[in-house]
Amino acid sequence: MLDLFADELPWREALAEGAVILRRFATREACVLLALIAEVAKQAPFRRMATPGGHTMSVAMTGCGERGWVSDARGYRYSRLDPQSALPWPPMPKPLLQLAKRSAGEAGYTGFHPDACLINRYEPGAKMSLHQDRDESDLRAPIVSVSLGLPARFLFGGATRTAPTQRCLLEHGDVVVWGGASRLFYHGVQPLRLGNHPLTGAYRYNLTFREAG
Ligand code: SIN
Ligand code: FE2
Repeated sequence: MLDLFADELPWREALAEGAVILRRFATREACVLLALIAEVAKQAPFRRMATPGGHTMSVAMTGCGERGWVSDARGYRYSRLDPQSALPWPPMPKPLLQLAKRSAGEAGYTGFHPDACLINRYEPGAKMSLHQDRDESDLRAPIVSVSLGLPARFLFGGATRTAPTQRCLLEHGDVVVWGGASRLFYHGVQPLRLGNHPLTGAYRYNLTFREAG
């Protein structure tokens, strides 16, 4: 059953200027990626962060690489230390870094050197409201986003919060890359539906690679 999908060849779908979905681009290495996520989470456990507005995010997060994205009452930012342990984030495992670089290259962005990999874990009902990724210091680098496990409805809008959104189902192994003209486009994830994925059970994982520093 799994082999059937592992053999599916990747294909691409244009999303907007500068943005593309690389369907199934990460399927072959998904097992390795999930094992590495588990390793990272041993050192920097998943946690639901507080928003500046005083809510608790429904998505549980951790990260690896030189910098990690954090949110608390003071705002959103990148930090070299995991605030929970006061230790540096676990280093970014090579296969993750290489997948990010290959994905960016495939989408036409050469020389991508991510220093941050945010790891999102969605449980049923977890969602991410429309937002821009704009905490990075240099906005010339793209965003590379890898989906694993249960499928989710991804919303991809435009330069303003009220711009029309496209809704695409992101499935296990799909990679979205956006940069250039769409680097600051609003995006979000609709509440995860109940399900049971053979590799991740009731969860969806998302890896978001960025040049943060
Ligand atoms: C994000 O925008 O940080 C997450 C996107 C996703 O989970 O697909
Ligand atoms: Fe985002």
